[in-house]
Amino acid sequence: MRYDSITEAIGDTPLVRISPAVHGLRSIDLYAKLEMLNPFGSVKDRAAWSMTRAALPAAVERGDTIVELSSGNTAKALALIAGMHGLPFRSVTNRMKVPEIKDLLLLLGAEIEELPGQAECLDPTDTDDPLARVHRMLSEAGGGYLHTDQYYSALNTEAHLTGTGPEILRDLDGRAPDHFIACVGTAGSSTGVATALRANDPGLDVLGLVAHKSDFIPGIRTIDEVHEVGLFDPDTYDAIESVTSDQAIDGMLTLIRRCGLLAGPTGGAAYFGAVRHLQQIDVESTRRRTAVFIVCDRVESYLSYIRRRRPELFNQPPRPNSIATLSPAEAAAARAVDVEAARKWIAAEHPLVIDLRGPFAYAALHIEGSINIVDELFGELLDGGLPFGRTQPVLLACPVGEKSLAYAALLTRMGHRDARSLAGGIVGWRDAGAPLVRN
Ligand SMILES: Cc1ncc(COP(=O)(O)O)c(C=O)c1O
Repeated sequence: MRYDSITEAIGDTPLVRISPAVHGLRSIDLYAKLEMLNPFGSVKDRAAWSMTRAALPAAVERGDTIVELSSGNTAKALALIAGMHGLPFRSVTNRMKVPEIKDLLLLLGAEIEELPGQAECLDPTDTDDPLARVHRMLSEAGGGYLHTDQYYSALNTEAHLTGTGPEILRDLDGRAPDHFIACVGTAGSSTGVATALRANDPGLDVLGLVAHKSDFIPGIRTIDEVHEVGLFDPDTYDAIESVTSDQAIDGMLTLIRRCGLLAGPTGGAAYFGAVRHLQQIDVESTRRRTAVFIVCDRVESYLSYIRRRRPELFNQPPRPNSIATLSPAEAAAARAVDVEAARKWIAAEHPLVIDLRGPFAYAALHIEGSINIVDELFGELLDGGLPFGRTQPVLLACPVGEKSLAYAALLTRMGHRDARSLAGGIVGWRDAGAPLVRN
């Protein structure tokens, strides 16, 4: 293989069969499409190249800055493409949560503009979402930018409609698989591949996978966020299911340790979601079937993400005071108070009000007198035991009242006497018309 440019090596990734001894499915041949073997490391190489290729000559002539909303693989691919063409690349994001990825982007020469976060702690007061910010920046500048627009660009989907999908068909001897399973970020890859495969076989079953409510799997949307994506069309999918970060890591470990595939968390989520979905079909199946899932990228950039959730994998002691260790009974026993009750409680007993959202969200608007400890930091604080007296009343608040409920349950298990969660979170508080103050 000899190339004039590394971009010529994008695509044509292997389709590798997963051994039935690993997945245990009796009547289904399961294949992994190894998008992690693209030259810049992920499925997004195709989209990045498709969105820039035709526009680059003019952008180079003008000396444009390439700009995109991305905190991960798209930014990585675009930074490299921009560098190859002597152009700057700017990544605008509110989701930069994995430190190694940020470091890597800086190493690749990207400029990073970080905005108030909607990531794990949604900012209900944010009217300045990243996309609006990028559009304003583009219109105010009146030129000088090439905005690749991955959440809306048809060129994102097209990369998979003309590349990934047809490659799968070719490698399955011209026949579409019965099932196609993919994680959904921008929805570009799942939409493009599903469209190409359905053109061959309209009976194709498509499963889209997203992260579980209030959970975080880097690179993909949660079940609550998925409808916000421009390219997302619910008709593309026969079903959308969610996977927890724990299940994604389990799937990833199977791919790594049993299949020799250095998959990252979304590859693991796709494998886990695929096998769970196919197990039901396998029981009833009367004929041989084929299924394909996508392995989007590799594991190396996610070591800190995995270490936080599975310290034992790195020979570190488990974190006994983590919300991941709550039993269903402990979680169900947590106390929540609605806005009215919370207001009365604050006025009468002055509980310590802890706002678990990000600092930008807190600075924008918060409950008067509350203190801000970002949820991940709060989690680390609890590793060392209760950070305040057992009898000190505590009201926990997060965006919608889910994370705070888990932490209230954890505090209770740790022996705290009066930890409550604000039901509905800061969103509920705002919607009830209760007062919020600005820093
Ligand atoms: C690691 C990872 N997995 C999966 C996806 C989903 O791909 P798509 O954006 O095509 O839906 C992405 C997208 O950014 C990703 O970075």
